[in-house]
Amino acid sequence: MTLTIIGAGAMAQALADGLKDRYRLEFVVRDLSKVDNLRELYSISLLDNLDITGKNIILAVKPYALKSVASNLKGEANSLYSILAGTALNALRDNINAKSYIRTMPNVSAKFGASTTVITGDKSKKDEAIEIFSSIGDTFWVDSEKEIDIATSIAGSGPALLCLVAEAMMDGLVKEGMKRVDAIDITNSLFKGFAPLILSNHPAIIKDSVMSPAGTTAAAYSALEEGAVRNSFIKAVTKAFEVTQK
Ligand SMILES: NC(=O)c1ccc[n+]([C@@H]2O[C@H](COP(=O)([O-])OP(=O)(O)OC[C@H]3O[C@@H](n4cnc5c(N)ncnc54)[C@H](OP(=O)(O)O)[C@@H]3O)[C@@H](O)[C@H]2O)c1
Repeated sequence: MTLTIIGAGAMAQALADGLKDRYRLEFVVRDLSKVDNLRELYSISLLDNLDITGKNIILAVKPYALKSVASNLKGEANSLYSILAGTALNALRDNINAKSYIRTMPNVSAKFGASTTVITGDKSKKDEAIEIFSSIGDTFWVDSEKEIDIATSIAGSGPALLCLVAEAMMDGLVKEGMKRVDAIDITNSLFKGFAPLILSNHPAIIKDSVMSPAGTTAAAYSALEEGAVRNSFIKAVTKAFEVTQK
């Protein structure tokens, strides 16, 4: 199968890295001078009155570019896979002709083959969509657009939220006197080791297993509860979801 990727930014190139061994890829861009690095590997066309008839498209431009991109396309695609945040299936249908439409929400870890990608849309394309996007990490099919919009806060924005946690941990270590370089290395190592740990059990059970009476973890945990960190994360999901509904 050939996949036609429209846009060649960070996500498009991360996707291509994961997909290139399994699919034939072609890029469509508005400015050929920006994609010299892709020329050796892929065929590249200019986004200018492009006939998309029968093509399987991955739309990877910024959400605000949808109308402008659509005005440069003609014909009816076979499938349209969109990675545009907060852009509803109806908006895709209103702008680009295709036999079927799929929305996906990957994240920036795609460049390490470790995206968390939530997917919804035309059920007849569910297996194909999961196969395509599993080349950049884990995939999760949900049955409604509401669910993909809710999941965007964690699947899409999650890396940025965890960066805030990581940076705060580093700053805490520095505040008490550690060298910045050690604070960074120690915190990064924590995140690396935490990935297999969180998969092994429920977070509350892991937490209980390491919290000794009157110990360091209990003291630190209490400080976080005082700062309403738990509620702040719950609110963060709500706020991000609200943005997708505008
Ligand atoms: N980054 C993430 O973590 C993430 C996560 C989930 C979903 N997404 C979604 O992925 C999409 C792309 O994000 P990105 O981070 O890859 O952005 P990016 O690196 O800025 O790339 C955007 C691409 O879109 C092209 N583009 C912008 N306006 C265009 C127009 N009017 N016509 C044609 N091409 C146009 C850009 O071309 P030029 O270089 O010529 O400007 C560039 O190739 C967005 O819709 C975003 O919502 C991103």
